[in-house]
Amino acid sequence: MDSIIVTGGAELSGRIPIAGAKNACLALMPATLLSDEPLTLMNAPRLSDIKTMTLLLQSLGVEVTAMQDGRVLTLSSHALTSHRADYDIVRKMRASNLVLGPLLARAGHAVVSLPGGCAIGARPMDIHIAGLEALGAEIELRDGYLHAMAPGGLRGAVIEQRFASVGATENVVMAATLAKGTTVLKNAAREPEIVDLVQCLRQMGARIAGEGTDTIEIEGVDRLGGATHRVVADRIELGTYMIAPAIAGGEVELIGGRRELLPSFCEKLETAGVTVTQTNDGLRVARANGRVHAVDVKTEVYPGFPTDLQAQMMALMCTAEGVSVLEETIFENRFMHAPELMRMGARIDVHGGHATVTGVERLRGAPVMATDLRASVSLILAGLGAEGETQVNRVYHLDRGYERVEEKLSACGARIERVRGE
Ligand code: UD1
Repeated sequence: MDSIIVTGGAELSGRIPIAGAKNACLALMPATLLSDEPLTLMNAPRLSDIKTMTLLLQSLGVEVTAMQDGRVLTLSSHALTSHRADYDIVRKMRASNLVLGPLLARAGHAVVSLPGGCAIGARPMDIHIAGLEALGAEIELRDGYLHAMAPGGLRGAVIEQRFASVGATENVVMAATLAKGTTVLKNAAREPEIVDLVQCLRQMGARIAGEGTDTIEIEGVDRLGGATHRVVADRIELGTYMIAPAIAGGEVELIGGRRELLPSFCEKLETAGVTVTQTNDGLRVARANGRVHAVDVKTEVYPGFPTDLQAQMMALMCTAEGVSVLEETIFENRFMHAPELMRMGARIDVHGGHATVTGVERLRGAPVMATDLRASVSLILAGLGAEGETQVNRVYHLDRGYERVEEKLSACGARIERVRGE
């Protein structure tokens, strides 16, 4: 298994291009199931999660053509051959459940494995199920699979989600595009990836209003057509690389970055003493001499502080001046990076959904283990500012969500390399 070795202490300087958003692309790809005309996605990220979604869609009969080294994907669902998403694929990636809504809307039935446990919490699917049932689907759980049927087709409805789930919002919005009548989805997720999905669906001919607010209205249409869509920038990759110069010192410009993708995150970084400037090409982030200040963080749905940047923020807070409290409200059990950071000398006390971090002057490099996608990158970030060598093991998690991390960081002067394992 590959590992990544970081030798800390080098200040960063340079430009990093931000890729298309993994989480947007994982929702856009299943949208192809809604139409028999091709959907072309530009600016797709080259990640193993995208390969997993490709395999899943191919197993349903979707033709997927990758061009420009995987940056452009054309998907065609003119001849679906299956409506079953197998456990073998779904267990690898929870986002596989995003085929449920579109398959049901197009084919009238779908069989999708439950994703099963996930390292960062239980992550059930009750909100997806409640939303699709409100649209008239009959859903049963048998043999670990959700069997969903809509024999008479889906019907528009007024739905209020008990929580603004990102995945459930995507599933319900996609299903409602082909339902009869109007759907009003209340307490909808407002994340930029939802806005991106809706813009693509609208190009395909869907009638949708209110994306980016907590109420989305969808007027069902008889059929959707093809479209060409450019995937929005990855705000989590953006936030991750914004933290790199904040930890290591120096100045980096993130090409394609926009402040409105990460409003509360940018505010928190600025309060901590990091300079964030919008340029013509992206966001410039700089940390002057000295340590950052401790800030408290609470993860929330958009536009709040994203849970997917909590681990990276914790890495920054490890060497901040003062004590910070990080509160995780989206996922239980999402502090698995804390004990690894402590192996590098961090002072962290985890109690329930809170972690109290007492900043130390400097971390020291150590062999550490990546436990999930965002945890792995937080260890790399910590290593950039640590004394000596940090070896991050089990980096296959990293390749699910970050393309060429070692190339992007070393282009800015970081001392980082990948060691290929067996
Ligand atoms: C998406 C993102 C993920 C991010 C998360 C929260 C993708 C592919 N993944 O995941 O990176 O961390 O949003 O911003 O876009 N929940 C239920 N019942 C449900 C659905 C969710 O209880 O039916 C709970 C989950 O267990 C979790 C919380 O709601 O505690 C958030 O989940 P959700 O917003 O659905 O996240 P995902 O769409 O899975």
